[in-house]
Amino acid sequence: MRTVTSNAALQSCLNRARGAGQRIAFVPTMGNLHEGHLDLVRRARSCADLVVVSIFVNPLQFGANEDLDAYPRTLAADKEKLFSEGVAYLFNPDVDQIYPEGMALHTKVRVPDLSETLCGSSRPGHFDGVTTVVNKLFNIVRPDVALFGEKDFQQLSIIRKMVDDLYMPVEIVGVATTRANDGLALSSRNGYLSAEERSVAPLLHETLNSCREAIACGFDNFLQLESHARMQLLQAGFDPDYFAVRDARTLRAVSEDTEEIAILAAARLGKTRLIDNVRLSVN
Ligand code: PAJ
Repeated sequence: MRTVTSNAALQSCLNRARGAGQRIAFVPTMGNLHEGHLDLVRRARSCADLVVVSIFVNPLQFGANEDLDAYPRTLAADKEKLFSEGVAYLFNPDVDQIYPEGMALHTKVRVPDLSETLCGSSRPGHFDGVTTVVNKLFNIVRPDVALFGEKDFQQLSIIRKMVDDLYMPVEIVGVATTRANDGLALSSRNGYLSAEERSVAPLLHETLNSCREAIACGFDNFLQLESHARMQLLQAGFDPDYFAVRDARTLRAVSEDTEEIAILAAARLGKTRLIDNVRLSVN
């Protein structure tokens, strides 16, 4: 595995591979890699000749009071994991490489509507930061296929929309959420949880599952399901941000046209913000 820190060096390596007819898969990350990230890498290997992983903690997607400085940076351990998974290139640029003129005057890519609801309303500007950096990374790497986790379902939906709207020549593959044995979705932020919070955390997924079961059994008062779930989370010590039953394609309210329902939740446990989602198809 080769670690590359400059755009130009990565582009020249990848131009050679592309010239030799190799298909390139790309997995963008912010590092502190866990099994969820590695599942994306394994899936990437199965659909291309060469895998590029980026590790870049993107300042543009963090709000002023968020955890940019505290975000866990574990480059040496991450490199070992990626090497063992057969990754060809680790792209690990510094902030100047991605934002040479700083961020204030920077061109931004924004996906309206989808990026304003759910996590977008509690983290204003967050998804503009994501779409802007993913766009830049796509233009540097020029992958044939890029992989994203369903754990961040809204992020995946927004990226699919951006790629469709801008006719970007890349295939987007969504990968199922990797969970701990007790159901908690793996996340770099789980490391912030105290032992006691960690024991409560799986309730987020349990609450999503109970809601899914109720809908599968024919219960269709979604407002009541949402408020019941929020109450359960509050009682367990979470500070719920949202718990929402939505159309999985538009992330708007469920309608007669809905083919798949997504149930999405974000809640704070102590200082840690957890997100998760489950889906079910409508018959
Ligand atoms: P990060 O949180 O590091 O996640 C990188 C990728 O791993 C994302 O596609 C995310 O959905 C996926 N992922 C994380 N936990 C997962 C899990 N438990 N199961 C399956 N996939 C999981 O998401 C970002 O970074 C950034 O916003 C990024 C896209 C890199 C742009 O900066």
